[in-house]
This record gives sequence, C-alpha cells and structure tokens, in this order.
Amino acid sequence: MTRRPASVTVRVPAKVNVQLAVGGPRPDGFHDLANVFLAVGLYDEVTVAPAEELRITVAGPDAGQVPADASNLAARAAVALAARHGLEPRVHIHIVKDIPVAGGMAGGSADAAGALVACDALWGTGASREELLAICAELGSDVPFSLVGGAALGRGRGELLEPLETGGTFHWVFAVADGGLSTPEVYRECDRLRGDTAVPEPEASPALIEALRTGDAVALAASLANDLQPAALSLRPSLAATLAAGTEAGALAALVSGSGPTTAFLAKDAESAQAVAGALAASGTCRAVRVTTGPAQGATLL
Ligand code: C5P
Repeated sequence: MTRRPASVTVRVPAKVNVQLAVGGPRPDGFHDLANVFLAVGLYDEVTVAPAEELRITVAGPDAGQVPADASNLAARAAVALAARHGLEPRVHIHIVKDIPVAGGMAGGSADAAGALVACDALWGTGASREELLAICAELGSDVPFSLVGGAALGRGRGELLEPLETGGTFHWVFAVADGGLSTPEVYRECDRLRGDTAVPEPEASPALIEALRTGDAVALAASLANDLQPAALSLRPSLAATLAAGTEAGALAALVSGSGPTTAFLAKDAESAQAVAGALAASGTCRAVRVTTGPAQGATLL
C-alpha cells in the first residue's frame, strides 16, 4: 500500500485581470466574458491533514473576514473531490491568507484550487488535470485559472481557459482598500449603469495578447481594460483617488483589479514599482500596498 503523507501544503497565486470584457447578462445570471488573467506573486498557502471531520482554520491579518465553515470555497472543494471518489472529507484545511480578502484578486478561488490539489495528494485520489479543472469550474468562474496560473484567456463565464504565452516579467503594485466588494453586486451595478445600451460580444484584444507575449509593459499598459471598473467606482467612489495617486507617481497605467476594490498599477520596472508603492502608501488613499510581479505559477505542491 502507498504511504499517505501526514499533511500536504499547496501554494496558490492571486490574479489580476489585464482585460475584463463583460457581455450582457445571460439567462443563468452570469455574464459571458473575454477575461485575460495574469497570475501574480501574492500567495495563499493551503495545508490539509487527516482529521475526525471536515474542519477549516484561517490565519493571517484578515483571517477574521474569511468564513471558517463549510461555506468556505476550499471546504466545498474538498467535499466535491471526496464525493466523486466515494470518500468522506475528513480533513483539516488550514489556510494562511496573504491574498487580499474579497478584493478582486481571486483569493477565495485560489484557496479552492489549493484545497483541491492538496486533498488529491493527501488522499491519493490521482484525479486527472481534466477532472480537477472540471471540479474547479463547478466551484467558481475564476477557480480553474487559480489552478493553472501563468496567463490565460477565460471565455464563457471565465472558466473555459486557453493558456497565453508571456515574454517576460511585469512589475505590479496593488493598493488594498478598506473592506471588500461583493462580486455579484459589482456585476449588477455594471448592468444597471449600462441600462438599455447595446453590449457588444466580449472579445480579447489582440494588442494586449501581443504585449503579454513580447513582455512589453508600455504596450500592455496601453491595452489594460476592465469593464467592471465603472461599476466598482460607482459603488466605491474613493477608488478614483487611489487610481490618481498611483498614476501621478509614475505608474504606466492603473485599473481596478477584477470586481475590486483592490487597485492595480503596472510599473515600468522594479525601481518604478517601489516609487509608486511609496507614493501610494503616503497618499492615505488605501489600507496597504503590495509590490509583486507576474506571471506567477498556478497551484504548486510545496
Ligand atoms: O463564479 P463565481 O461564483 O465566482 O461568481 C460569483 C458571482 O459573480 C456570480 O454569482 C455572478 O453574480 C457574478 N458573475 C457573473 N458573470 C461571470 C462571473 C461571475 O455575473 N462571468
């Protein structure tokens, strides 16, 4: 019999949407997207170990904002994998959170992808990549990308992934806002602001994909676009001052990350990223500032 490990730890990255093109609402309530994801080097770590029953604990400065019960997406990931393999999800899931909570950086999705990969290794279920991706897609629109990392174009509601080539390292600064924003509310606000205006089919920008491929930060900056940004700004008008502070400090471009309220700043190089971070921290327009790079690896066993 194969020996099972006593515990397994998986590291999972945050993401920024370098393009988020949002179509009109679908009959199922979701929106068709052209969603260009880039994984960045802020990580949660998910550790799983055998336990009497499913238990979840969370550590980190914002742990109090994360549900430590069966509603947590990481717990649902363990339950989904166990159910498919006729197992009981008797596991303790411990999450060390470093990705901003409810911040538009797919922190919850990262934890789900991490728990899935970790439980698969702990239980020796030997799920194929295809099966893992199918479970991810059931759990949430952004979860498959948290598994694969790097850069990818997400179609459908974001779960149908096509990997994208990247040609270098992009330097990012993230400004973490006070409190989170609810993703469904941001989508609803987007629909409300659009009213009866005709919404085109969401399409990925060829210029943006080429900028990722060649590692050209200036070209990428010119193509960054987030259709949810007006909605996030409408719900959280103070984000405009954060965006302005980063742009004035020399960021090549600034945008809201996903559904927000984290804001993302693309910098020319590492030095410029530090300058933008310093200016944002001094501006008093955000709660915390993080400097990192992308692309980053997807869910990785440690
Ligand atoms: O898939 P996920 O659970 O992350 O989605 C959260 C919510 O965000 C959905 O319930 C929906 O309101 C909104 N959403 C959407 N269209 C998408 C993805 C998410 O409307 N493509």
